[in-house]
This record gives sequence, structure tokens and C-alpha cells, in this order.
Amino acid sequence: VDLRHYNTFGICEPADHLVEVETLSQLLDALALADRHGWAVTILGGGSNVVLGGPVPGLLICMRSLGRRVLARHDDAVLIEAAAGENWHRLVAWSLDQGLSGLENLSLIPGTTGAAPVQNIGAYGIELADVFDSLDALDRKTAQVLRFDRQACDFGYRDSVFKRHPGRFVILQVRLRLSRTPRLRVDYAPLRAAWDETGLTRPDSRVVAELVCRIRRSKLPDPALIGNAGSFFKNPVVSSEQAERLRRDHPAMPCYPQGVDSVKLAAGWLIDQAGWRGLRRGTVGVHRDQALVLVNHGGAKGKDVMALADEIRSDVGSRFGVALEMEPQLLGG
Ligand code: EPU
Repeated sequence: VDLRHYNTFGICEPADHLVEVETLSQLLDALALADRHGWAVTILGGGSNVVLGGPVPGLLICMRSLGRRVLARHDDAVLIEAAAGENWHRLVAWSLDQGLSGLENLSLIPGTTGAAPVQNIGAYGIELADVFDSLDALDRKTAQVLRFDRQACDFGYRDSVFKRHPGRFVILQVRLRLSRTPRLRVDYAPLRAAWDETGLTRPDSRVVAELVCRIRRSKLPDPALIGNAGSFFKNPVVSSEQAERLRRDHPAMPCYPQGVDSVKLAAGWLIDQAGWRGLRRGTVGVHRDQALVLVNHGGAKGKDVMALADEIRSDVGSRFGVALEMEPQLLGG
């Protein structure tokens, strides 16, 4: 099976076998089939945070389960639940239609609801962990469905227990804690500026969602038009001393203090300063409006993407002494 339409990077690589599952029993059947044949198993959602480094061996299982509902209401707090296969942005839009607030800053993130906890998706000052209640996942080691609360997920920046144990857990449904009263979260400077420009005085989640969509569209390439997997590198966290030293040479360098000892730097800024923004290497390149995003200009292979990433990584490493870590997951190969 050609996977070109199963990953937003648009990389052509085959999978030995592929199955799309809508229910838990279909998932269990697929896993049993793989067991019988001794096939390796890979679980995929929207394929928006992966790089195919080569053919995917064994069985690729695509999560397609649907369903979303309000589970409980306590005064202002509303608990919602969504199946893993639900498109994330459609879930955000649905929650806003229900008059619920909490997900607006996470509008327009590609991918599925089941994939969201894996890398603890985040944007514009919010991450999934902030609104997360719990999830159910199949533990492939024990064949039991387990409930994970926020603590059990051990969320970090673009990280979770699921990302650290690839293949072990299959997320089935996710529960989120939203509110009926809109609360503005516009600490992120460009969002703050856009909000102030509206002149509105009362918090309005729908307006914030529209502003987030507008900001994203202005610098992030639409994967339907140009293949990409969003941010290709994590924003590196360095010691305060190192940030201070870099700041001396580069006074304009963005710094986001993380407590007292460490500072998060903007990988996009570092890559941009190193002159990579808009650069092209055959089939792959660096997006012209956001240096943190690598793009497929057509026909790119995983090895082309990884070669460009390596070049960028070593250049940024030698110029700034900062190590960049790849953000999407590398599959196959
Ligand atoms: N910058 C540049 N040049 C660039 C890109 C960025 O100078 O080419 C500067 C910007 O001007 C800004 C700073 O770097 O001062 C940070 O850039 P931006 O606000 O665009 O955010 P980011 O750090 O590049 C992160 C997330 C995004 C998320 C945005 C908004 C990571 C790895 N990425 O990007 O998440 O949408 O913040 O919150 O944390 C993703 O994970 O796929 C993703 C898109």
C-alpha cells in the first residue's frame, strides 16, 4: 500500500499491510492478525507528525473511530469525550459550537484526537495538558484497557509517556475539561496584538479561534497544498547562562524563561538567522515564512528530509552551540 496520502509530508513509501479500524473489536482483530503472522505493528492517526524514513514493515493500523459527546457538567466545568479517530480541528470547532471554551488556542492543528496526547500538542500559550482530563488506552503488553489521568500521561513539552514508549499503548478515547465561561488566554504576543486590535472587551472564544486560524495560515504551510509535518524541531531548552551568553551576541534573540535555571529558545529564529529560511535542496526545503517547518516540494523521500535536517542541525550547532532535536516521529526505514 502506498502511504503518500497517509502522511501530511506526502512522502511515498509502502506499508506491507494496512488496515483502518473504527472500533475496539476491529482493533483487537487487527492486532491478533499481526500476532498470528508475526508482523510488526505501527499505529497511525492523521499522519501529521511523522516522517516516513522508508517502507513501514508489517501492519500499519490507522485509527478511524468516531464519536464525541458531553459526558458531564458541573456548574461551569464541562467534561467532553472524543474517540481517537476524530479530527482534532473538527473537535475544536464542535466544542465552540457547544458554547464551550478551552480549545480555541489549539485551532487548526492537523491530525487526530488520539494523536494529540502523544506529543502533548500545543500552540499560542496552551498545551493539551492544560485541558486534559483522562484517556483510555489499550496496553498491548497486557491486552487491557487502562485509564490514564493527567499524571499517568507524564506530559512534557511535546512529550508524554506514549511518545516515550512507541507502540505500547493505543489511545482509544480522550476526555477534556472545558468551561462554559470563556477565559482569554492571549499571553502569546502576536495573539495579544490581534486580540487588542479587535477592540472587544469581553472574552470571546470564537473570535480567539478565528485569530489563531488567521495567524497560523499566515505562516504555516497548509499540508493539503505543500507537504510538511509542522514544526520539524523542538524549541531547545538551554541553561540561563548559555542563553545570557547568546543574548550578548544576539540581543534580538527570543528567549522564554522556564523557571529560574533554563530558557527556551526559538529554533525557528536560530534556523532563520543561520540563513536557511526559504532555502531549497531539490525536492525538500525550508518554508519561506517559518524556518521551523521543512517542506516537500514534490517527490521528497524521508532520506532527503533527514539529510536536510542533519545539515541544519549541524549548522545551528556550530553557529550557536545549541543542539536541535527532531520533533516528529520517524517511521519505517
Ligand atoms: N522566528 C523567526 N524566524 C522564523 C520563525 C520564527 O525569527 O523563521 C521567530 C519569531 O519571530 C518568534 C519566534 O521565532 O519571535 C517563535 O516563532 P513562532 O512564534 O512562530 O513559534 P515557533 O516557536 O516557531 C511554536 C510551536 C508551534 C506553535 C507556535 C505558536 C514548537 C516546536 N512549535 O513554534 O507548534 O504553533 O509556537 O505557539 O514548539 C508544531 O508543533 O508543529 C507547531 C506548529
